[in-house]
Amino acid sequence: MTANTTSSSSKDRIVIFDTTLRDGEQCPGASMTFEEKIEVAELLEDMGVDVIEAGFPIASQGDFEAVHEIAKRAGDNVTIAGLARAISGDIIRAGEAVRVAKRSRIHTFVSTSPIHLAHQMRKTEEQVLDIITATVTQARNLVEDVEWSAMDATRTPIEYLVRTVDAAIKAGATTINLPDTVGYAVPEEYAAMFREVIERVPNSDKAIFSTHCHNDLGLAVANSLAGIAGGARQIECTINGLGERAGNAALEEIVMAIRTRRDVMPYDTNIDASMLTRASKLVSNVSAFPVQYNKAIVGRNAFAHESGIHQDGMLKNAETYEIMTPESVGVKATSLVMGKHSGRHAFREKLKDLGFEIGDNALEDAFKRFKDLADRKKHVYDEDIEALIGDGMAVAAEAIRLLSLTVIAGTGGAAKAIISLDVEGAHVTKEVTGNGPVDAIFNAVKAIVPHEATLSLYQVHAVTEGTDAQAEVSVRLEEDGKSVTGKGADPDTMVASAKAYLSSLNKLMVKRQRQHAQAVNA
Ligand code: KIV
Ligand code: ZN
Repeated sequence: MTANTTSSSSKDRIVIFDTTLRDGEQCPGASMTFEEKIEVAELLEDMGVDVIEAGFPIASQGDFEAVHEIAKRAGDNVTIAGLARAISGDIIRAGEAVRVAKRSRIHTFVSTSPIHLAHQMRKTEEQVLDIITATVTQARNLVEDVEWSAMDATRTPIEYLVRTVDAAIKAGATTINLPDTVGYAVPEEYAAMFREVIERVPNSDKAIFSTHCHNDLGLAVANSLAGIAGGARQIECTINGLGERAGNAALEEIVMAIRTRRDVMPYDTNIDASMLTRASKLVSNVSAFPVQYNKAIVGRNAFAHESGIHQDGMLKNAETYEIMTPESVGVKATSLVMGKHSGRHAFREKLKDLGFEIGDNALEDAFKRFKDLADRKKHVYDEDIEALIGDGMAVAAEAIRLLSLTVIAGTGGAAKAIISLDVEGAHVTKEVTGNGPVDAIFNAVKAIVPHEATLSLYQVHAVTEGTDAQAEVSVRLEEDGKSVTGKGADPDTMVASAKAYLSSLNKLMVKRQRQHAQAVNA
């Protein structure tokens, strides 16, 4: 049996397994489009993630296609994993999705705790042992690299856990994941569990052990690091800690904790930490899950010093109150863009600086929108440019476009929206009232483009400070169990709201067309 293909021979190298696109995307409301998943996967790969769990291929045709495409595009240094329950059909589908990758992994799991066996699986311990042997063997016949997870490991009696791990390794598992599925463990016991399992399983050296921690008690990162102390060498985590319920262990926290406290955790990861902020922003954008202001590493306030004593110390020597520099995680000092007199060349350089490489046509389009913004807004900051580019990406694929909008609202009665849209080339105008200006706008759009989708999220975020700040609005629509999130940015919150609603509708139309095409081709 070969050892895990992603592992480093060094005992100090921690494999970073990112599950933003699987466990993260499982988080209610965080679903991403096909294109968004590809974009996130590319950034994770560039950042140096070792294993990307790209999705759950059996869950839907869309999931399968996204995992397959990510696997097809992946380079030599990243492993693409697909999740599979302990069911033959799942394993076959996961294998089909990931096998096109240069390095592919099937990640299969089964519950092991008494409560799951009794109520969810309705199986005996012996039956589950047989399932482990059969499913890991099946996966191993499809790919070299197989991860097996003992779901709810932390509530599984150690005697039985040892037997399950032994069976999985004997059947060919190359990574053994012991998840804290319900976020119940505390660090000491999580470390002890790894120590004991590794010590008692005869062939434990044939596999890499992995942590997978949920954050129900706010202990996901602490538990993951304790797992490393107990002998694990892979950590499963997500950008921004996105994930089921209270989320998973946050990748950026794990990476920076290891890097900053190398004195007590002498390990390395392959992550380029200077890309953490970009990854956080991208995932927050595509999932429409805002990052809390005081979130460690990537929160807006993570490097802000407000109190006089702290500011004084910082001015004298940054190390007085800063244990890592903002630059080390990719935070750039907010800088003023040159404003309405800036030329194309300076604008292109600024985009490059912010990590956007766009073609000539897209640049021309973005430049026009930048000039328009600079005419309306006194100071244009990096954050404004980022929002403007994000807004423009949505525009590229739009069938419905906003032409003009007038809103009348105030204390004098119902709000009124007069909106003109370009709907696949036809110009349509409607005047509609509503319970407030946003309601009036959304009603007006619905009057022009009738649909049954329900609004499940409306969120406004000021891109920078000041009353002339651009508003970035997220709108999530749900239809037939599928959800899409659209975004719009503009100094006028109502215009941003209309753009976000239209962006969401456009995405929904693309989704419908794709489903229709699949049904026809089936
Ligand atoms: O939390 C969990 O146990 C999981 C498994 C599928 C690994 O996500
Ligand atoms: Zn999980």
